[in-house]
Amino acid sequence: MGAEEDVGKRIRRLRKAIRYHAYRYYVLDDPEITDAEYDALMAELKELEAAHPELVTPDSPTQRVGAEPLPQFEKVEHRTPLLSLDNAFDEEEVRAWERRIRRLLGDDTDLQYTVEPKIDGLAVSLTYEEGRLVQGATRGNGFVGEDVTQNLRTIPAIPLRIPVVGDEAPPAYLEARGEVYMPRDRFEELNRRREEAGEKPFANPRNAAAGSVRQLDSSITASRPLSVFVYAVEAVEGVTVSAQWDGLSYLQRLGFPKAENIARCDDLDTALDLYRKWLDQRDALNYDADGVVIKVDSFAQQERLGEVSHAPRWAIAYKFPAHEGITKLLRIGINVGRTGTLNPYAELEPVQLGGVTIRHATLHNEADIHRKDIREGDTVIVKRAGDVIPQVVAPMTELRTGQETVFDMVRTCPVCGEPVVKPEEEVMYYCINASCPAQLVARVEHFASRGAMDIEGFGARLAQTFVEKGLLGDVADFYYLKQDDILELEGFAEKSVANLLAAIEASKERPLWRLLTGLGIRGVGAIVAQLLARNFASLDELMAASEGELEVIEGLGPHTAKSIVDFFAQDRNRNLVEKLRRARVRMTRLPEEEAPKEGQLNGLTFVITGTLPTMSREAATELIEAQGGRVTSSVSRNTSYLLVGESPGGTKVRRAEELGVPSVTEEELRELVDGG
Ligand code: IVH
Repeated sequence: MGAEEDVGKRIRRLRKAIRYHAYRYYVLDDPEITDAEYDALMAELKELEAAHPELVTPDSPTQRVGAEPLPQFEKVEHRTPLLSLDNAFDEEEVRAWERRIRRLLGDDTDLQYTVEPKIDGLAVSLTYEEGRLVQGATRGNGFVGEDVTQNLRTIPAIPLRIPVVGDEAPPAYLEARGEVYMPRDRFEELNRRREEAGEKPFANPRNAAAGSVRQLDSSITASRPLSVFVYAVEAVEGVTVSAQWDGLSYLQRLGFPKAENIARCDDLDTALDLYRKWLDQRDALNYDADGVVIKVDSFAQQERLGEVSHAPRWAIAYKFPAHEGITKLLRIGINVGRTGTLNPYAELEPVQLGGVTIRHATLHNEADIHRKDIREGDTVIVKRAGDVIPQVVAPMTELRTGQETVFDMVRTCPVCGEPVVKPEEEVMYYCINASCPAQLVARVEHFASRGAMDIEGFGARLAQTFVEKGLLGDVADFYYLKQDDILELEGFAEKSVANLLAAIEASKERPLWRLLTGLGIRGVGAIVAQLLARNFASLDELMAASEGELEVIEGLGPHTAKSIVDFFAQDRNRNLVEKLRRARVRMTRLPEEEAPKEGQLNGLTFVITGTLPTMSREAATELIEAQGGRVTSSVSRNTSYLLVGESPGGTKVRRAEELGVPSVTEEELRELVDGG
């Protein structure tokens, strides 16, 4: 019996410790112990419980793994209905809302607001009796929801038991409300795994979260990376909470996670400033937020304001411009890229997304189109985050009429008509006709771009015109342009011609890596070009290098080595180099390009934005630092590269563009540090 008692004690101690560390980790985001130590505590508890099943309690931290499948969900009548929120889409609507409430409360009332993110997940109600989670329910129709207690128990961030805080016992009764969501990085990871397993990916984190909670088998919920943010104390016994802000602090003290950066303010202008801040950061958050909720802070005032038809008067959701929309995919077209890649894109019925009209979206490649089963004529979900190219997320198959057509990749280049080629190990098709005019336009545009020779003012439109008019037959022709030829073009006057010629002249003195990037050798982006400039003093030296000599350069893969040698083996490209040389374009490196050699990334500063395809930000930072590079949080003139993942931050991307900071992908970074 004595030993039994000791086991009981040990179990209780373990549970307490695990709860405490889970709180530090999930709520405070400030763990005191490592994951491995946490796992060890959990393992010991599991072992003891396995040996003493009579000591297992439903609120034990081990009981999150999920129970037997439920036959169906029980219905739950909410004690007070889960209301919805009125929306505002511009500042004027928010100001009108404030005028209304001021009129109701009396003009001179002091008002305070809390400003919270509106989390795009699934609303849940969590009921605790004597500190134990007794019921978790979905919103349902607002009055009656589904009992998903078993499923919610599997979410690590939801306390199963409210700890004793100081000498404050948990309340006898508590109903907290909040939003279950799936963190974006985990969502991407989950979808990647699903696709690998041949399963249908989720359209967005919200659907993934909702689908995961409304599972009959809670072990499925347990396997999904879910979390929660609470946003309201709906009811509490034995404690007086008199304002929204205090309610949130109280919940946090009890161990519930709330979204960070929630603020309380004294006037609407500050609230609107906060909205703009959230909007700016929105893409950098690890959860989807579709707006902010502005709430009257005082419960007394909330009560006086009351509600109208399912929504309280005391709160308003000020929505962000939508990132996702639904529209019709009219046709699948093909663009020819700089290296001859045939890039499929969707021609869409115009749709407003994030304040911009979208007419086209990328479709990546043929395999992706078929995997997502996207057909011409489909109604599709399109997405545009930050400044990235809009994407087709998924077709809405339930809206099919039977008139949709399955996409068939072209057999000939849509621009020059030559047959297309698909290398076996690649997903892309190519037009390999070196004189294909579409490729020339793309090459010219790339050469002049900010990431390459940086010829100011020369963008896509001019590239098209100059090639069409026969002024540019290759990129070296830039340096042979005559004032009179340009003057004949529409929209040019003496001043603008002079500016353009000056910009072209200035580009002759660019560092060697910019020229290398501008040549458009497959596999040679800004990072590889800088690596090459570090290893070769001039273009001539590089051209003389063999595949073997290139391959031994740390950070350069065999594919790229071959691609470089192949490029310079072609007469056409050698002639191009000679033509550039005659025009006196710099072909030797600048002294600062010869960087110290200890790490591949020595002296380089990176900023990371968006979700990287295969590594966490921490892992990327470690990798960069291990190679002598630095990672900072905001883009400045000193930033060498912006490392861009999925859903990048609009501000960072814009700023990098303004400053001419080149973007790189995770793949390019890897290529550089481990040789591809
Ligand atoms: S307050 C009566 N705060 O938005 C007040 N709701 O459109 C309603 N939501 O069903 C809840 N984040 O699921 C509130 N910070 C937040 C929220 C939030 C997301 C959801 C909630 C609600 C829906 C209303």
